[in-house]
Amino acid sequence: MANALRQTSSIHSSGKIGVFDSGVGGLTVLREIVRQLPHESVLYFGDTARLPYGERTPAEILRYVREIIVWMLKREVKMVVMACNTSSALALETVRSEFDVPILGVILPGARAAAKLGRAIGVISTPATAASGAYRQAILEANPSVAVWQVGCPEFVPLIEQNRIHDPYLKTVAQTYLQPLLQARIDTLIYGCTHYPHLAPVLRQILPSQVRLIDPAVPLVQAMTHELDVLGLSSPHAATTTEFYVSGQPSQFARVSARWLGYRPSVSQIDLLALAADPPLSVRSRS
Ligand code: DGL
Repeated sequence: MANALRQTSSIHSSGKIGVFDSGVGGLTVLREIVRQLPHESVLYFGDTARLPYGERTPAEILRYVREIIVWMLKREVKMVVMACNTSSALALETVRSEFDVPILGVILPGARAAAKLGRAIGVISTPATAASGAYRQAILEANPSVAVWQVGCPEFVPLIEQNRIHDPYLKTVAQTYLQPLLQARIDTLIYGCTHYPHLAPVLRQILPSQVRLIDPAVPLVQAMTHELDVLGLSSPHAATTTEFYVSGQPSQFARVSARWLGYRPSVSQIDLLALAADPPLSVRSRS
């Protein structure tokens, strides 16, 4: 990776970290970046016009991820963080081989953290992430002796994006999704979608208190810190900025995210047609 980076002159330590998700889920990763890496500036993109990603095909996800990375590279990001499990499960390996920028995903750090602590591990995620089997594979590679249960939860992301976390309907849905995991007597639960840490107050009411909740954002940002350090890309500045862009309605994103950020962000809209039309200048051709 270090050699590849040298070919890309626009990558330097004062660049921003590009973070993306389909919507407000990536804010749970942004929150952790602000906590662990307070000197880093972030360019956040929420692909709100095309969510939920969890119901998309692998080919669609790969196309969206490529478009977003090309767009981010034109804004001179020094690292790309897939703050989205669905993208990490379906596109990370491919785009890592295509772009000369460090790209990190959530699944490996989350799976390794859970495999260290748990013996009976539940994973709640989007249907696409569950179908990929990415968590099961990564957990069993880290520790083949644990048991893993995965549940796809299609209703969570739309409810979170609609700001309906305290709607009693969401609790009923959560009880249904968690039922098989409770029956399996899990000791550890991974938030296999970056939207789900927003559900902590509801999930805590349903789960026995001894069940550990793993937010992959925590070990992901530890891995980012290490990678920035090794590559000499840690920010030399103390002043930071966070810019927000979405493909859907900026006002809707600003309203929902204000609750998680503690302030109402200024959000700009990116035209999807422009995003799709961006020529992939930074894609490295490898045969
Ligand atoms: N938050 C994303 C994830 O971690 C995507 C959710 C969605 O859009 O379905 O999978």
